Amino acid sequence: MRFGFCWVFLVLIFLSACNSYTSEYTTLEPIGVHPNGTIYIGMESCKECHLDIVSSHMQTAHWLTSSMMTPDRLLPLLKAEKNYLDLKDDTRLTYSFQNDSLFQEASRNPLEKPFLISPLNIIIGSGTKVGNSFLGWEDNSLYQFQGSYHLPSNKWINSPGFPDFFQAKRPIFPRCMECHTTFAQSENWQSPIPINRYNKNNIVFGIDCQRCHGSVVEHVKHHRDFPTDSIGKKILAYSDFSQKQRIDMCALCHSGVGDQSLLPVFSFKPGDDLSKFIRSQSASVPDVHSNQVGLLTMSKCFLESDTMDCMTCHDPHLNERNNSIKFNARCIQCHPAPKHFTAKVSEEWDCISCHMPVQGSRQMKIQITSDSLVPVGVRTHKIAIYKEEIDSTLQLQQ
Ligand code: HEC
Ligand code: HEC
Ligand code: HEC
Ligand code: HEC
Ligand code: HEC
Ligand code: HEC
Ligand code: HEC
Repeated sequence: MRFGFCWVFLVLIFLSACNSYTSEYTTLEPIGVHPNGTIYIGMESCKECHLDIVSSHMQTAHWLTSSMMTPDRLLPLLKAEKNYLDLKDDTRLTYSFQNDSLFQEASRNPLEKPFLISPLNIIIGSGTKVGNSFLGWEDNSLYQFQGSYHLPSNKWINSPGFPDFFQAKRPIFPRCMECHTTFAQSENWQSPIPINRYNKNNIVFGIDCQRCHGSVVEHVKHHRDFPTDSIGKKILAYSDFSQKQRIDMCALCHSGVGDQSLLPVFSFKPGDDLSKFIRSQSASVPDVHSNQVGLLTMSKCFLESDTMDCMTCHDPHLNERNNSIKFNARCIQCHPAPKHFTAKVSEEWDCISCHMPVQGSRQMKIQITSDSLVPVGVRTHKIAIYKEEIDSTLQLQQ
């Protein structure tokens, strides 16, 4: 009799567990498939167990760095000071909106009909700092179009690298997608030779969890089946990685564009040795834009401490822009009493403003007015003693 009751009880528990299986859990919908077999399922499927990380990740520049054009991404563009950009050869590029779509219309004379209308289907750049560039399809070929939206000036500007006369488009090669999306399948995905034709339906926009954590399907299945297992299973663990492996994952996109892809783009996985995939930049002085790894690894802080990596200061799941209190606290952890002689440092002084100053990029320059090319300012990761910045800070103090 007693046992009978237990059975009924167990069956009830089982049924209610099954019930929550269908109601609480989202099904594992693939949003993309790597031809090597990796299935991309998107961050929705992480929410049930990692809600806080998913919510905070959605605020990051990584997640926002690329998407299809949507009404909420269009909104800031509608507020630009002018909806056009004039080029040196008297071409006017006008940005127009119809049914939540964005178009670039090129005309020789503003009163005449445009001679070319290009759809801007894809937005690149989180728009948290510099702004956005725009890509669009012609059949299966992907191009960048000439205008970019520049956030600090709230204007349409000539995109970095375009001439100041009209150029209809520029092909977008997989390396650009490798840094700004989770996955994109080029038609010749098995080859490192760059082409700009893609499988349009197999692109995973934004940099999501799987970009840095690899394949997740088995992990999700395991933890759904064993909800009480509190140790992460069937997933790569950064705690098992060496310093180099931890840095290489970030270096895929933060050590410069590289001189050459040695293996197909999008074949690097977390834990791999990056030097087998990309021949790194030959420049002796790494540029501040997109080469944080090159600069950090030249710093004394890195060279003379054993375990420094990007996560010493950054939480990759958080938007930490301008959180100087947090970053300074990281410096002070290792330098509780720095020896300052000429610099009279008071407690509220910002370590990073002197030792990691914002510098102009040599590679990324933008044309805000038709005659000036302004370098984009990026915070250097070469932590050092900078004379000029310090002098100007001292002057400000006087
Ligand atoms: C059914 C629950 C469940 C789901 C769904 C789930 N996880 Fe987990 N995951 C866990 C548990 C439990 C752990 C171990 C505790 C922890 O680290 O939070 C874990 C740990 C992890 C870890 C850390 C591994 C380590 O040891 O360093 C990563 C990374 C991770 N999950 C990524 C993901 C991603 C990405 C998704 C979505 C695609 C996901 N998880 C979906 C339950 C889940
Ligand atoms: C797939 C390429 C890729 C990988 C891998 C990657 N990043 Fe990024 N990261 C980017 C891109 C692209 C941006 C600029 C996004 C934008 O603003 O549109 C960026 C921006 C950032 C920023 C600036 C955030 C802000 O608020 O402006 C930080 C910090 C950062 N990454 C740290 C890391 C760290 C740490 C890792 C390794 C754990 C890493 N990234 C891995 C591509 C990547
Ligand atoms: C830019 C790369 C990057 C992205 C994108 C990313 N992670 Fe992580 N994640 C890391 C790194 C690096 C660590 C290891 C942190 C450490 O050891 O200091 C980590 C650690 C974790 C951990 C275990 C420890 C912790 O910090 O809680 C979990 C769980 C996790 N990530 C889940 C996710 C989920 C879920 C997403 C997507 C919403 C995601 N991550 C997106 C790089 C990333
Ligand atoms: C090697 C990786 C890499 C490649 C390749 C790359 N980018 Fe970036 N991009 C970055 C990183 C990292 C940042 C932001 C941080 C920085 O400047 O270091 C960035 C920033 C941007 C931003 C500014 C976002 C903002 O608001 O701050 C835009 C727009 C952009 N990239 C577009 C492109 C386009 C378009 C391509 C291809 C033609 C491209 N990038 C190629 C890594 C890359
Ligand atoms: C993991 C520990 C660690 C962290 C975090 C760290 N440093 Fe260092 N740093 C070191 C070590 C070790 C040295 C070399 C010994 C020394 O000069 O104290 C060093 C050296 C320096 C130097 C001397 C550089 C030179 O060229 O003479 C400066 C300046 C410095 N750090 C500033 C900073 C600032 C600012 C931060 C925060 C953004 C920071 N450090 C974060 C460990 C660290
Ligand atoms: C010693 C601390 C420290 C370490 C280590 C560190 N960073 Fe940073 N990082 C910072 C600070 C401080 C900023 C400035 C944040 C701000 O202005 O909001 C920053 C900003 C950035 C930015 C945005 C740059 C810009 O101006 O737009 C990127 C990208 C970035 N870090 C990537 C990395 C990567 C990749 C690594 C590992 C190679 C790394 N960081 C290691 C302290 C650090
Ligand atoms: C106003 C600019 C300025 C600020 C702010 C500043 N420093 Fe410095 N720092 C210097 C200068 C200049 C030197 C070289 C010694 C000197 O001339 O005083 C130096 C030297 C150092 C050194 C090398 C000397 C040593 O102790 O090994 C470290 C480490 C250091 N600073 C860390 C920090 C930290 C951590 C902070 C934030 C709490 C900070 N600094 C804030 C300008 C500054």
